[in-house]
Parts: sequence; C-alpha cells; structure tokens
Amino acid sequence: INSIIAQVTKYTFPPSEWCYHDGNCSYEKWPELFPKYCNGTRQSPININSSKAQSSSELTAFTFTNFNSTTALKKIENTGKTVKVTFNSGVQVSGGNLPETYDALQFHLHWGNGSTTRGSEHTVDGTFYPMELHIVTLKSSFNGNTTQGVADSQGLAALGFFIDIMDGDATDSPDSWRTLTSYLTNITNTSDYANITSALSLDDLLSGPNREKYFRYLGSLTTPACNEAVIWTVFKEPIKVSKNLIDLFSTTVRIGNTSSSFITNAFRGIQSNDLEVTTQADRSSCSTMCSTKG
Ligand SMILES: *[C@@H]1O[C@H](CO)[C@@H](O)[C@H](O)[C@H]1NC(C)=O
Ligand SMILES: *[C@@H]1O[C@H](CO)[C@@H](O)[C@H](O)[C@H]1NC(C)=O
Ligand SMILES: *[C@@H]1O[C@H](CO)[C@@H](O)[C@H](O)[C@H]1NC(C)=O
Ligand SMILES: *[C@@H]1O[C@H](CO)[C@@H](O)[C@H](O)[C@H]1NC(C)=O
Ligand SMILES: *[C@@H]1O[C@H](CO)[C@@H](O)[C@H](O)[C@H]1NC(C)=O
Ligand SMILES: *[C@@H]1O[C@H](CO)[C@@H](O)[C@H](O)[C@H]1NC(C)=O
Ligand SMILES: *[C@@H]1O[C@H](CO)[C@@H](O)[C@H](O)[C@H]1NC(C)=O
Ligand SMILES: *[C@@H]1O[C@H](CO)[C@@H](O)[C@H](O)[C@H]1NC(C)=O
Ligand SMILES: *[C@@H]1O[C@H](CO)[C@@H](O)[C@H](O)[C@H]1NC(C)=O
Ligand SMILES: *[C@@H]1O[C@H](CO)[C@@H](O)[C@H](O)[C@H]1NC(C)=O
Ligand SMILES: [Zn+2]
Repeated sequence: INSIIAQVTKYTFPPSEWCYHDGNCSYEKWPELFPKYCNGTRQSPININSSKAQSSSELTAFTFTNFNSTTALKKIENTGKTVKVTFNSGVQVSGGNLPETYDALQFHLHWGNGSTTRGSEHTVDGTFYPMELHIVTLKSSFNGNTTQGVADSQGLAALGFFIDIMDGDATDSPDSWRTLTSYLTNITNTSDYANITSALSLDDLLSGPNREKYFRYLGSLTTPACNEAVIWTVFKEPIKVSKNLIDLFSTTVRIGNTSSSFITNAFRGIQSNDLEVTTQADRSSCSTMCSTKG
C-alpha cells in the first residue's frame, strides 16, 4: 500500500521524478508519466516554420520595466535541472499584444553538452542553437500566485532568447555573461545558491537582439507538468556569448553533488503539434507602402 501511495503521490503532486534524456524518465516518457498535460495538444517547444508564420499587426513593441535595473537580479541557483536566476519585485513586461502587464519571476537556461551541440528547446526552420534563455512572467493580477497562473490558458508569458556562439575567437565575452557565469563555481551542487551582488541588469544580459522582432504562439511549460498556460514569445535574433562561457554550463554545475554528473542536454525535444505562429509583418517586402505604419 505504501508503495502504491508513493507512486500515486509521485505522479499527482508537483512532479520531481523526471529527466530530459535518461531512459525511463526522459521527455519521451513524460506523456505517460504526466499525462494530464504533457500529452496535450498545445505543447512546447516547437519547431517554428518561419515561412508559415502568419503576419500580425497586433504584435507591437514591448515595454520592459526595470530590465535596466542593476539590482533586479536576486539570486542564482542550481536546481539540479537548470540554473535559475530569480528577480526582486518590480521587473515587468507589457505591450507586445499581451493581455495585461506580467511580473517577471525568474529566468533559467537550457543547454546541451558544449557550445557545438543542440541546447535550445525551440528551433527555427530546423535550426537549433547551443543555449536558450527563458524569462518566466506571470499575470500581475495573480499577485505572484503561480497556482492561478498555470490554471489560466494565458496565465504565464515566457520570453525566449536564443544564445549563439560569438563570432571569432572571443573569450570571456560579453562582460555581462562573464559576470553571470562567474557565479557557477559557487553553485556546483544541486540546491546551492548564491546571492547576486554584481551590478548586472537584464538589459546587459539581453544585449544584441532586436526585441521588436519575434514569433508568438500559445503553448505550454516545457517541464512537467507541462501546463498549457503559456503565451510564448521567441525572439528571432540570438544573444551572442563566447564559446568558453557557453561551455561552462555543461562542465561546472552538477545533478547532485561532487560525485554526480554534470547537467547536460537540459532541453525538451520538439513537440509535433502544428500550432499557429504569428510574427510581425515583414516591412522589407513592402518598400514605401508600409512606411507610414511607422
Ligand atoms: C526509473 O528507473 C530507475 C531504476 O530502475 C528507478 O529507480 C526509477 O524510479 C524509475 N523512474 C521512473 C520515473 O519510473
Ligand atoms: C496521449 O494522447 C493520445 C491522443 O489523444 C492518446 O492516443 C494516447 O493514448 C495518450 N497517451 C497517454 C499516455 O495518455
Ligand atoms: C531605466 O529606464 C527608465 C525608463 O527609461 C528610466 O526612467 C530610469 O532612469 C532607468 N534606470 C536606470 C537605472 O538606468
Ligand atoms: C559530454 O561531452 C563530454 C566531453 O566531450 C563527454 O565526455 C560526455 O560523455 C558528454 N556527455 C553526454 C551526456 O553526452
Ligand atoms: C515549412 O512550411 C512550408 C509551407 O507549408 C513547407 O513547404 C516546408 O516544408 C515547411 N518546412 C519545414 C522545415 O517544416
Ligand atoms: C493561490 O491561489 C490558489 C487558487 O486560487 C489558492 O488556493 C492559494 O491559497 C493561493 N496561494 C497563495 C499563497 O495565496
Ligand atoms: C559540493 O558538495 C561537496 C560534498 O559532496 C562539497 O565538498 C563541496 O564543497 C560542495 N561545493 C559547493 C560549491 O558547495
Ligand atoms: C563564492 O564562494 C567563495 C569561496 O567559497 C566565497 O568567498 C564567495 O563569497 C562566494 N560568492 C558568493 C556570491 O556567494
Ligand atoms: C544571501 O543573502 C541573505 C540575506 O541577505 C543571507 O541571509 C544569506 O546568508 C545569503 N546567502 C549566501 C549563500 O550568501
Ligand atoms: C552527495 O550525493 C550523494 C548521492 O546523492 C549522497 O549519497 C551524499 O550523501 C552526498 N554528499 C553530501 C556531502 O551531500
Ligand atoms: Zn525553460
């Protein structure tokens, strides 16, 4: 009886017994292990077919509040599945055709096994990147209650940024990523955390990509329980980070402690549901006619 209770408990309450690529707990098994949502029909991540993305004039610019604050990043943690950075309150995103203002709670990263392998969750026209950064935000009206967020089909908005290798032989670049990764040696064991004391802003970490160019679709969390509660924004242009810093993720932080393996290949595979994706109208293809739209 105890083992039956244990099994029921394991799969009914917030899931912990999952992994990305190991045999019986891999993402291919999530639909069986967590059938309530992981076997659904608006699951993420997806491959974005850019030629099929519908253009939409509703996908306006975002307003990013406190992304320039150098005190917004609170702590960095090794969860055993990823590296997560939590925010102090006041970091928000609105605009971009979101239904209301969303509070940013945390960002975390997905990576492969070194800078030359797949680490991104989303792909565009089959192209993957070595890493992907996800900023997780919650409708402000839920006041931080994520239980309500995951129960609402638009309760969460996720901002996805691809990370690509910086061109040339750059090392330790950019400075913002050198600073962020300098914390990894303090969080090598699962459940370790460090307080972020550096003057580091989200704008510093997100520098490079044009944040007015993005894909939009309605999807899910990419970890169990895979709740279908997420408005996804996937920015088209990647953040560029030097190879040596990308390599640190798969060679520094561990699942467990010193005697266990590094966190590698921390991404869910593509879900084959055919979801509608929208993007901004392509102004370059309409020359002077569209210029009055600003
Ligand atoms: C996977 O297999 C291992 C070893 O056989 C077992 O300990 C673990 O509970 C299994 N996990 C799941 C989710 O079934
Ligand atoms: C997942 O959904 C499909 C289609 O609805 C169904 O055929 C399949 O049995 C489901 N699998 C699980 C494990 O629930
Ligand atoms: C952040 O941006 C806002 C709005 O543009 C500005 O008012 C504020 O002074 C900036 N703060 C910092 C720390 O640069
Ligand atoms: C990751 O790469 C390292 C070095 O290239 C290799 O030794 C290791 O087996 C790889 N790990 C996985 C899970 O593929
Ligand atoms: C993208 O969509 C187009 C048009 O439907 C199709 O011809 C093409 O094969 C698709 N590409 C991929 C990679 O799915
Ligand atoms: C979050 O919302 C749920 C559902 O409305 C409620 O049961 C729960 O008590 C709330 N949690 C907190 C911490 O307010
Ligand atoms: C990780 O755990 C080991 C014990 O297994 C300990 O020796 C080491 O200091 C820990 N590292 C950190 C950064 O806390
Ligand atoms: C990182 O670890 C070093 C050595 O244990 C310690 O001196 C330092 O304060 C730690 N840094 C943070 C931000 O926790
Ligand atoms: C982080 O900061 C809190 C409060 O400022 C402090 O209590 C805690 O010891 C710090 N933790 C680490 C790992 O430095
Ligand atoms: C390190 O992890 C192993 C396996 O999870 C565990 O048996 C051991 O007690 C841990 N050591 C420390 C110091 O936490
Ligand atoms: Zn993620």
